[in-house]
Amino acid sequence: MGIKVNLEGVKNFIADDEYTKFAPFVKTASDLLSSGQGAGNDFIGWVDLPVNYDKEEFERIKKAGEKIRKNSEVLVVIGIGGSYLGGRAALDFIKGINYNNKKHEGTPDIYFVGNSISSDCLNDTIEMLGDRDFSINIISKSGTTTEPAIAFRIFKQLAEKKYGKDGAKERIFATTDRSRGALKSLCDREGYETFVITDDIGGRFSVLTPVGLLLMAAAGIDIDKVMQGAADARKDYDNTDIDKNDCLRYAATRQILAKKGKVTEILANYEPSLTMFGEWYKQLYAESEGKDQKGIFPVSANFSTDLHSIGQFIQDGSRNLFETVLWIEKAQKDIIIQEDPENVDGLNFVAGKTMQFVNSKAFAGTYLAHIDGGVPTVVIEAEKRDEYNFGYIVYFFEKALAISGYLSGVNPFDQPGVEAYKKNMFALLGKPGYEDRKEQLESRLK
Ligand code: PA5
Repeated sequence: MGIKVNLEGVKNFIADDEYTKFAPFVKTASDLLSSGQGAGNDFIGWVDLPVNYDKEEFERIKKAGEKIRKNSEVLVVIGIGGSYLGGRAALDFIKGINYNNKKHEGTPDIYFVGNSISSDCLNDTIEMLGDRDFSINIISKSGTTTEPAIAFRIFKQLAEKKYGKDGAKERIFATTDRSRGALKSLCDREGYETFVITDDIGGRFSVLTPVGLLLMAAAGIDIDKVMQGAADARKDYDNTDIDKNDCLRYAATRQILAKKGKVTEILANYEPSLTMFGEWYKQLYAESEGKDQKGIFPVSANFSTDLHSIGQFIQDGSRNLFETVLWIEKAQKDIIIQEDPENVDGLNFVAGKTMQFVNSKAFAGTYLAHIDGGVPTVVIEAEKRDEYNFGYIVYFFEKALAISGYLSGVNPFDQPGVEAYKKNMFALLGKPGYEDRKEQLESRLK
């Protein structure tokens, strides 16, 4: 069980003794994380979360999921960034990208809102919801983040109009800070059921907390298996020896490659249901490492689709890239390609083969072509898209990122840069207290 990390595709770019030279730094980074002595050590609750989670709350999550399944045809999940991406990645990874369009008796459709400020998207969701019964999961640690706060205003009003204040109370679940913040105060006043985002886990590390777990439970995902996967990964990667720890070796590989000018990492998949996983990875890696004028720029690609768009660049453009492929060995349900007597497309040579087999050859061919083109390639293989592997892979990427961040000398757990745009936006919207900034900005926009 678990995953395989294959580093054959970086051998042309990294000599074995480079890992040997890097090993002491990796050990130091690893010790810093496990001893809690490193930068940002207030935010490392995710390290032991797979075994240290609140068991009473975990059972409440399952019960809330059951209640939502019983009384709702739709669950509207409201959140952005770390309060959005992980949960959505989990749903797609495990249930598939077409979950809402497939038959899934006994579990609600899941709509995500509050992750943009688009009135068109919000209106479309309200239209899709129609007069169906729904519940809401508002996820916001602060409770004041603009995008989800606006969406919550709207859906709370819709729920109160449809079910009355008391009825709505039974359908609104809030995932927020334990004791502080605007949302927590509102929940206390209105009597909504709440789940906690603890202080020691930052948004982008929160997928295995109620942030991700409640919607998973509502969708009928076995959250015990998700946590089991994460717990096994925690155990498997709990040593400081780079020769025995694939997670540390992957972190070291990233930093060795970055030192050689490979400063863009493409996380590639060959399975559309991993698209949102790529989005989750981008936030986790970009917010954690992109600071102090440093960092590996994380992008994601969905192959073979994107081989028809950015494939040319990867093969032949600027050589500052490396690739990490997240490969899923087995399809949940395979299709056998049939013989066509006319063979107009000339593809009868794949007749009798499965689509997954063809996908695997597209992957193998691309892998070799990219290496030949100068793109070092790491391959992370999981057997299938299921609960266990989701938890396992999430933990692998979180831990690798923390080590990689410490290796590059940054605090991987803060995100000072994300405030800059918000301050400008609030000033331009006329938020009280921002008057001077508003004047300065408006003069620059003239
Ligand atoms: O990782 C982060 O801290 C951010 O992406 C936040 O999760 C995001 O801004 C949402 O914040 P909040 O949960 O306070 O609404």
